[in-house]
Amino acid sequence: MLAPRRLWHNITLFDGRTLQPVPMTIAVIDDRIEQVCPTTDAAGLEGEVMQVGGVMTPGLIDCHTHLVFGGQRADEFEQRLEGASYEDIAHAGGGILSTVRATRAASEDELHAQARPRLEALLRDGVTTVEIKSGYGLTTEDELKMLRVARRLGRELPVRVQTTFLGAHALPPEFKGNADGYIDLVCHEMIPAVAAAGLADAVDVFCEGIAFSVAQSERVFQAAQAHGLPVKAHAEQLSNLGGSALTARYKGLSADHIEWLDEPTVKAMAEAGTVATLLPGAFYTLRETRVPPIELLRQHGVPMAVATDGNPGSSPIFQLTLMLHMACTLFRLTPQEALQGVTTNAAQALGLQQQTGRIAPGLAADFCLWDIDAPNELAYAVQPGRLVERVFNGGVHKA
Ligand code: NIG
Ligand code: FE
Repeated sequence: MLAPRRLWHNITLFDGRTLQPVPMTIAVIDDRIEQVCPTTDAAGLEGEVMQVGGVMTPGLIDCHTHLVFGGQRADEFEQRLEGASYEDIAHAGGGILSTVRATRAASEDELHAQARPRLEALLRDGVTTVEIKSGYGLTTEDELKMLRVARRLGRELPVRVQTTFLGAHALPPEFKGNADGYIDLVCHEMIPAVAAAGLADAVDVFCEGIAFSVAQSERVFQAAQAHGLPVKAHAEQLSNLGGSALTARYKGLSADHIEWLDEPTVKAMAEAGTVATLLPGAFYTLRETRVPPIELLRQHGVPMAVATDGNPGSSPIFQLTLMLHMACTLFRLTPQEALQGVTTNAAQALGLQQQTGRIAPGLAADFCLWDIDAPNELAYAVQPGRLVERVFNGGVHKA
């Protein structure tokens, strides 16, 4: 027998793509959206009325985070304020490698205890799906440890967690001068181990002067695809090296950061269906000045996602609605584009577009009700606490 129908009536609805012009009714059965129709057409629908009125969006999706990590880097933040660059700090053995030391030293329970409040903060902000990367372990065992913590968080909290293996994030000190040797380890030991344990949904690389070359990134992509895992990249963040073009060649899910992206690569991404993930928190924190080529992405129809990049260095920010505001003020997205970036397009960046990211029949009942008059207010005001109700897979969580 079917579970009873639940109804949300007279809703001002941003469905993930457009703001519906008339008040809408959303019907949910069990964990799925059953119907979405104008409330004037819903008179015959029987069911339990959950709510009348309010602004609804799809559950928000943070499609790029590094929220499992040990330690913190407040001192490095101060060094940067005094003039040191992100690259200077990386070359001196700090930056990502400082988090690697703290993450290796932490037990699985310690990592979990530190990560959980970060994820809870995202949930209070309306997030129903989050991606969590590894990349601060850089040994097989420490990478597996990070991914197990991410999966555990997904079992414990009402949120869909997608995990991404990012072994090629930085060169660990024990491989200094031997990046190709480390990539051998990533390809021949880490990816097979992660795939065998079912601990990753995708594979990411940091393709950059301070990280790995295009050729090294390509080897990682080949190993990932040999294990049936989709790929994505941190690319064109600090220079135009070619990581995004490589990602498009491998039909990658997304190329992320992309401040230095050029037009031929934008076209290649459009053809490949690769999402452009914008990370305004990292742009802001690192005081970058080169803005991603938003107009080219628009012209060529590349879907733009927006994410926190929540991590201890370049973006110590765990508030996705703040990213809506920053994507508009720093990158000049429209509020509607920014909202699409944390719903429909973020789902696509995770390969989840058939499951979540839109309010449409057949998709998971993931949505948020907000105490605002219109959806564009979410991008306009930086004001936590406006979430009234968060529905994840049909489960209702009052804020
Ligand atoms: O997305 N770009 C590389 N990786 C992360 C930063 C990680 C860190 O600084 O710890 C990023 O910005
Ligand atoms: Fe990142």
